[in-house]
Amino acid sequence: MTDTCFTHPRLAALYDPLDPDRSDLDAYLRMAEEFGARRVLDIGCGTGVFALLLADRGLEVVGVDPALASVEIARAKPGADRARWICGDATDPPPLRVDLVTMTANVAQAITGPESWRQTLRGAHGALRPGGRLVFETRDPARRAWEEWSRDNSHSVTEVPGVGAVESWVRVIDVSGPLVTFRWTYVFAADGEVLTSDSTLRFRERDEVERDLVEQGYVVDEVRDAPDRPGRELVFLARRP
Ligand SMILES: C[S@@+](CC[C@H](N)C(=O)[O-])C[C@H]1O[C@@H](n2cnc3c(N)ncnc32)[C@H](O)[C@@H]1O
Repeated sequence: MTDTCFTHPRLAALYDPLDPDRSDLDAYLRMAEEFGARRVLDIGCGTGVFALLLADRGLEVVGVDPALASVEIARAKPGADRARWICGDATDPPPLRVDLVTMTANVAQAITGPESWRQTLRGAHGALRPGGRLVFETRDPARRAWEEWSRDNSHSVTEVPGVGAVESWVRVIDVSGPLVTFRWTYVFAADGEVLTSDSTLRFRERDEVERDLVEQGYVVDEVRDAPDRPGRELVFLARRP
């Protein structure tokens, strides 16, 4: 089960309005083009933003995410019928032979358990055609991003169409080795409801990710920087031989 912010219908509906700048996805669109991908599996598709960008470009896309409320938002978007949506994870994907598997917006970090991480990499491998690519990002632990996740840095009030003003902020609750737990709070001005959502992310070292990929049968072709977040993210480009 994933975090309340993705599974609670009222919070899942805030995902796009609270983070409208998706220029982080440009690099992934360029990679899909670079690899000549025609069929894509987007693991952790959330509200479907990336999957729909691909579908708009004529690619065949399957979006998979365990958070039903988020998948339902994706399914209700204009053009959503051009993609296929699955509520679930990638540990047991349907029979697919895609050219590219993606995990955008640090989905990889949300998969904290070592066994579910291995199974996700294995599932993605099974869904790829030989020569197909897996691309995903994970925050570089050396940058200690969580040290910036404070109420002061994150507090905002956003006017959400049809919802009204929503106040939100984040604070870190616990740092235990590579696991960082933080809590988002949301206050709805319309009715005063206050909702919170706790998340835990795993910060993996570059060597660890490379080792995990090789163990699951991938070749690691490259580790890039994220152009929109220089020095902060590790973007892995792996291939099923
Ligand atoms: C930060 S959101 C990113 C959503 C989307 N990729 C994007 O770019 O907007 C993280 C997503 O990972 C999903 N997630 C969490 N655990 C997962 C798992 N084991 N397998 C697949 N997706 C997972 C969550 O439900 C959530 O939708």
